[in-house]
Amino acid sequence: MTLQLGDPAPDFRADTTQGLVDFHSWKRDAWAILFSHPKDFTPVCTTELGYVAGLVDEFVARNVRVIGLSVDPVIDHELWAADIAETQGHVVNFPMIGDPDCVVAGLYDMIHPNADDTQTVRSVFVIDPVNRIRLILTYPASTGRNFEEILRVVDSLQLTDAHQVATPVNWKVGDDVIILPTIDAEQAAQLFPGGWDEQRPYLRVVPQPR
Ligand code: BEZ
Repeated sequence: MTLQLGDPAPDFRADTTQGLVDFHSWKRDAWAILFSHPKDFTPVCTTELGYVAGLVDEFVARNVRVIGLSVDPVIDHELWAADIAETQGHVVNFPMIGDPDCVVAGLYDMIHPNADDTQTVRSVFVIDPVNRIRLILTYPASTGRNFEEILRVVDSLQLTDAHQVATPVNWKVGDDVIILPTIDAEQAAQLFPGGWDEQRPYLRVVPQPR
């Protein structure tokens, strides 16, 4: 069955570069980014994994734990890590799942047979503290992902959960946000005592809460 937004994130046990991981126990009540890459020792993947390693402070600041995956065995991940460190300048500092039997890839629909029936596509799942899937992205093998965008989505989701706001087109941290349409005027007055710019009854703009 295809996973959709709001679904529970399937739990699994997997061999990783940091030992056996029971996903939900490893994640605890943090956010998680579970992402797959097609193949070890490939160029785009090398740049992605190095970049993600360099974002460690950004993930810590957002209480996000990161875990990678491909259908390569853990030993290949370990051998490849040296190349990533040398060419990208960052040591991979998060676990990489070795999934040669495609167990986790199958649970998360990371193999799209009409694209490639043996390798995972570039999937990203953002999973919240109560293990619900909040973002699903699928990129083709030949296109490296924009992990700044994925951090931006995490920022947006965390603002929504904390403050009942949505973020408009091309929003960046610090820009104005929008009161959720599900919040009525009475609730909005309590949540935003400073008021809002009511451009339409459904378009109520407020400064980003801190
Ligand atoms: C890459 O990481 O460069 C790559 C992997 C699979 C197919 C195409 C590119």
